[in-house]
Amino acid sequence: MIAAQIIAAKRDGRSLTDDEIAFFVQGYADESIPDYQMSALAMAIFLNGMDERETASLTAQMLNSGTQLNWPDDGVLRVDKHSTGGVGDKVSLPLAPLLACCGFQVPMLSGRGLGPTGGTLDKLESIPGFRTDLSLSEITTLTQQVGCVITGASAELAPADRRLYALRDVTATVQSIPLITASIMSKKLAESLDALVLDVKFGSGAFMKTRERATMLAESLVATGERMGVKTTALLTDMNQPLGRMCGNAVEVLESIDVLKGEGPPDVRELTIELAAELLLTTQAKSTMQAARELATSALDSGAAFEKFEQMVAAQGGQPSAALKVADAAEVSAQQAGFVSAIDTEQLGMAVIAMGGGRQKVSDTIDHAVGLEMLVRIGDEVQPGQPLVRLFCPRPAAHADNIRKAISIGEEAYRPDLIAERIT
Ligand code: URA
Repeated sequence: MIAAQIIAAKRDGRSLTDDEIAFFVQGYADESIPDYQMSALAMAIFLNGMDERETASLTAQMLNSGTQLNWPDDGVLRVDKHSTGGVGDKVSLPLAPLLACCGFQVPMLSGRGLGPTGGTLDKLESIPGFRTDLSLSEITTLTQQVGCVITGASAELAPADRRLYALRDVTATVQSIPLITASIMSKKLAESLDALVLDVKFGSGAFMKTRERATMLAESLVATGERMGVKTTALLTDMNQPLGRMCGNAVEVLESIDVLKGEGPPDVRELTIELAAELLLTTQAKSTMQAARELATSALDSGAAFEKFEQMVAAQGGQPSAALKVADAAEVSAQQAGFVSAIDTEQLGMAVIAMGGGRQKVSDTIDHAVGLEMLVRIGDEVQPGQPLVRLFCPRPAAHADNIRKAISIGEEAYRPDLIAERIT
């Protein structure tokens, strides 16, 4: 086969065969196909798309570019969740231990901040000593001993995705649904799971700004998971305002601990329980949604999930009882009366980065102590002088204007539903 002919076929809108996709990805992985030909194919896929079969085939080839986790044949179900990311989305932190309390094992491989959204690994590194670089053998051993780990994906898993993602980033081909699907699913399927739940977000703080695009992505992810033999469902969730109150690193860990103790903001708690319930239902560990929700709720309210979180932190080298450092607080207040009508959530995520809570360059180090706390939600009535946001950072005056501009105050308000749709 000739790489240029495969590029031409996709350029001209033809479906690629499984063999053509295998030839291209294997060639890319062994470096016989160079970055410039992969860039051209990525652009052709961006422009002409891929059907369900091609997308699953691309995913399978990216998966096969590396190793996969190996589990004993012991009847234990291994599950995970993937979120497409959102500002204040800390759900992985309570969800992994909660799922472990529900009888699953959870080898959760997570990422770092991407654009305005924070990264689970960066958040967990607020905990002194917490290691996010577990080796493959540590991942498998600790998952079986503790019930869950949250760590970075090691270089041996889906290495073709690592290179292709970096290439897409600089060739304007990130926003392609088949390429996003293959990228996300190859990494998740390398965990050798029985079931996967996806949290696909839409809105001002999400990767997908419109509900329509988020639906297309969710359908593509679910179809690919199912084609590859993993029970996969998705929740489509609203990201037109931060999830929970806290955005930042240490502050999000503290809020997650509240959720793990049966408290915390209602939206974070609800989403954590719903995602756990999805997995309990799809694996048939519970036969009704109500029974699934009850089990998940009781694991939070009894303190069992918090205890499991502490075990996971200790197993990954962290100090579970260490006091986390949070910067001094200052408030940003409303200048007019009305209702909170919209929030530019991406702007709030960028403000956290500007405070030092995320990276502007790959080499930046993160200040885990900075962040913000939302004191209002869409639909709330506010008065002039009422605090809208609490900032935790050394120079709050430098950020106050941007934060205030991100919160629109109007005459009418609506309250968006957190969970818009379930996609199976
Ligand atoms: N996250 C991923 O892992 N891959 C993408 O392509 C986009 C988001």
